Amino acid sequence: MSDITFDLKENGMVVGLPDGDSYFNYYWLRDACLSCIDPQTRERIFDASELKNAPRASSAMIDDEMLVIGWQHEAQASRVPMALLRQVAKGGRTADPAALPRNLWYSDHLPKITRVDQHAVLNTDEGLARLSRAVIEDGIAIVTSMDKTVEALPRLVNTMGSVTPSAEGLFFDVRVEIEPTNLAFTAGPLEMHTDLPGEEFAPGVQFLHCLENTVEGGLSLFLDGAAVAEALRAEDPAAFELLASHDIPFFYRHDNWDYRAHQRVIETDPDGNVTGVTISQHLQDYLDLPQELLDLYYPAFIKFIRMMQEDRFMLRFRSEAGNCVVFDNHRIVHGREGYVADSGSRHLRGCYMDRGALRSTYRVLAKKGFTLDEGAKKQALA
Ligand SMILES: [Fe+2]
Repeated sequence: MSDITFDLKENGMVVGLPDGDSYFNYYWLRDACLSCIDPQTRERIFDASELKNAPRASSAMIDDEMLVIGWQHEAQASRVPMALLRQVAKGGRTADPAALPRNLWYSDHLPKITRVDQHAVLNTDEGLARLSRAVIEDGIAIVTSMDKTVEALPRLVNTMGSVTPSAEGLFFDVRVEIEPTNLAFTAGPLEMHTDLPGEEFAPGVQFLHCLENTVEGGLSLFLDGAAVAEALRAEDPAAFELLASHDIPFFYRHDNWDYRAHQRVIETDPDGNVTGVTISQHLQDYLDLPQELLDLYYPAFIKFIRMMQEDRFMLRFRSEAGNCVVFDNHRIVHGREGYVADSGSRHLRGCYMDRGALRSTYRVLAKKGFTLDEGAKKQALA
């Protein structure tokens, strides 16, 4: 540590870290001082706008893995962990244990879906970590051995976060209804879709708890929308770009509600990685892009929808009573084959939760050490 160098500039300093020189702005360093965070509430208690003068360092040294900065206009020195500087120098931001790469999956994923027993999720950190990590990485997991009661679903969700309300309220029941407000509540087939794109922020994580299923047909369909989007990017980059750069309108309306929102069909992060998709032909409004642009947009859109129907992406399985499928509603596209309504009973109970709650749960568990992947864990236990 003693060979670290400092070059104090007007607005920031260059720190000579072992991996190379890195520049840090003085405001940022002042904000990063450990004294800015209240140890009790863990909230920020320093407001940089209250500084009378722009911060400017007069000295810098290392003390016990801390960068100690003396300021020209403040009596008290700041202490910034060197580990933080190294993280930010490396990736531009602080480390996030929940920022796990997505594992794209295809039609052969069924035997590989992470399955976690309800009791493990409710009673063990390891079970909860396995479930939350799988939903972050794969976008889907199944909780098994759920009680076949309406109380079982909120009990499961509450281990990870809170139920997020939607237009349907806190919970919805997928079964045949006499006066359905949604195609899901009929026995007909349900085309591949993500839920509620007409809401300003479509729900993040969806839970579908199967309470009963004795009907003929009605297989559940799931695919990884991120995998299809990446396949489109590889096969037709121009089509991918169109779907990733224009919003289209969706709605959800009936007698007493009229939701409308615009969404990108392919959602990407600032680095261009696919973070999700939005697709729902039964909740899609009249496209309001310029008509000339539609000459290009429609063929790209239809190509993407047709790709979603290809067998190479599709998982088909029967929802078993006692199982709850947990999936990322911004990434995993789901549907259902039609079934014979009077051949038995089919009842799925569902709800939503924020993706932020999922990641929060995983970060807390990661801090406790539940970050090993399955192979490493088996080795560690051997
Ligand atoms: Fe749905």
